[in-house]
Amino acid sequence: SEKITMGPLVAAIDQGTSSTRFLVFNSKTAELLSHHQVGIKQSFPKEGWVEEDPKEILQSVYECMERTCEKLGQLNIDISNIKAVGVTNQRETTLVWDKETGEPLYNAIVWLDLRTQSTVERLINSTPGKNKNHLKHKTGLPISTYFSAVKLRWLMDNVEEVAEAILTNRAMFGTVDSWLIWCLTGGKSGGVHVTDVTNASRTMLFNIHTLDWDPELCKYFDVPMEILPQVKSSSEIYGSMNSGSLAGVPISGCLGDQSAALVGQMCFQDGQAKNTYGTGCFLLRNTGIKPVMSDHGLLTTLAYKLGKDAPAYYALEGSVAIAGAVVRWLKDNLGIIQSSAEIEKLAGDVGSSYGCYFVPAFSGLYAPYWEPSARGIICGLTQFTNRSHLAFAALEAVCFQTREILEAMNQDYGVPLSQLQVDGGMTSNRLLMQLQADVLCIPVVKPAMSETTALGAAMAAGAAEGVGVWSLTPGNLTTIPTDKYQPMINLEESEFRFARWKKAVQKAMNWET
Ligand code: G3P
Repeated sequence: SEKITMGPLVAAIDQGTSSTRFLVFNSKTAELLSHHQVGIKQSFPKEGWVEEDPKEILQSVYECMERTCEKLGQLNIDISNIKAVGVTNQRETTLVWDKETGEPLYNAIVWLDLRTQSTVERLINSTPGKNKNHLKHKTGLPISTYFSAVKLRWLMDNVEEVAEAILTNRAMFGTVDSWLIWCLTGGKSGGVHVTDVTNASRTMLFNIHTLDWDPELCKYFDVPMEILPQVKSSSEIYGSMNSGSLAGVPISGCLGDQSAALVGQMCFQDGQAKNTYGTGCFLLRNTGIKPVMSDHGLLTTLAYKLGKDAPAYYALEGSVAIAGAVVRWLKDNLGIIQSSAEIEKLAGDVGSSYGCYFVPAFSGLYAPYWEPSARGIICGLTQFTNRSHLAFAALEAVCFQTREILEAMNQDYGVPLSQLQVDGGMTSNRLLMQLQADVLCIPVVKPAMSETTALGAAMAAGAAEGVGVWSLTPGNLTTIPTDKYQPMINLEESEFRFARWKKAVQKAMNWET
C-alpha cells in the first residue's frame, strides 16, 4: 500500500530508571506518531545497592527502536522520514566499559544506590567545618551518594577489571547517555565518546561555570581525566546510527531526562518551572544564563545548551529520590497492588490516610535535606489502618516532598510559583494530581502532550545545526494544557497535615538515635 507523505520526523530515545522508550514525533506539529516501551530490571545485590545491566539497557533501546519502526510501517509511514535521533536518560547512573572489547566492566550503578554512603560521610568529615557544600561553588551540588564521582570512585577501588582497564588505558567512563551514544555510533569500531553539559553537570567532576571537566575536582576524587567523555552541547550532531533500521541517521540531541522535560515543557523563560514524576520526582526552574546558588538545599544544574555556540542556561533543581518508586515498592515488596495504576482506586476508596504518614526515605533523603543516613518510616498506625490508608499515605508523601522543594525554590528564587507544570508517568493519576494541588495550594497544570521528556530530546535533535527540521523560535513554543487541578481543601487543614509530615521526616532522619 501507498506510504503516507509526511514532513520530517524526529525520534527520541528516553532511557529512564524503570523503562526505556523510543518515540517518533512529527517535527512540524510535535504530534507523537508512534512509540514503544520496555521495562528495565533493577537488581538489589545488597541492602541499599541498586544496579542495572548495561547490555540490557542497550538491548532495550534496540528493541524499542525496531518495534517502533515496525509500528510506523503498519501506519504506512516511511521511516526514511526520520531525520534525527535525540537521547535523553536517567542521570548520574555510572558505567565503565572496555573500549577494546566494548564490554561493560561492571553493572551500571544506579543514581539511587547507597553503597558510597561511608565514602560520602568520610569526605564530608574531612572538609573544613564538615561542610557537605564544600564543592558547591564549582559543581552546584552537595557531596552526596547521588552523583557519579563517588560511584566511579567505588568502581575504581572495588572492581579489579576497572582498575586494570584504567592502568592499561582501555577504560571509558560514562553516564547512560555516553554509553548509549558510544554503542549506537559503532562502539569498539569507531563509537564516539561524548556527553552533554546537562549530564556532565551531574557527575561532580564538571565545573558549571567553565562548562568543562575540572582538573581540581578530578584530582579530589582521584579520577583520571582520560577516561571521561568529551563534553558537547545538548544540540549538535555527535555521530550517526551505525546499524539497525535507522542506520545513518544522525544522533543530534542529548539531555539528562529532567533537562529534556524542561525543554519539552517549553520552559525557556527565566522563572518557568516543571515537576516530573518518574521513579523520583524533580522540580526544575529555569534561572536563565546565570547560575543561582541555593541557600535552601537545592541544586544548581545545567538546564540546556541548544547548540555549540548557544549560551548555556541554568536551573535550580529540587530532587526527590522516591516518587513512582514508592508505588513500585507497594506493588513488588508488599504486594498490596497488582499494577501501579491500581493505587489510584485503592487510595481513592478512603480519600485520606487519617493519621498515617509514610516517609519513603529508601535512599536517604535528597533535597532539601541531603541526609544519606535517613531511612523510610511509616508512622501513626492504628488497628483501623489498612492498605488503602497506606496507599493514600504513599501518594501524599510524593505531594509533601514536592511541597518541601517548592518552598525551598520559592525562597531561593524570590518569586513564588503561581502554578505548577507537571509531567511524567504518575500524572495520569488524577487523585494524586488533585492532592498535589491541595497540598501546594496552587493550581497544577498538565500538558496535552504528556511525553515531554522525549519531546525535549527530539526538539534538541531536530534543531541541531546540519539537521534543522525543528525551529526553536519562542513564538512557536507553547504547551497546550489539558488538565488543570485547582486546590480544593482549606489552608488550615493543609498546613496541619504538612506540619505532621515534617515531624515524620525528622523521625526518618533520626531513627537510629
Ligand atoms: O536524577 C535521576 C533522574 O534523572 C531519573 O529520572 O525519570 O528515571 O526518575 P527518572
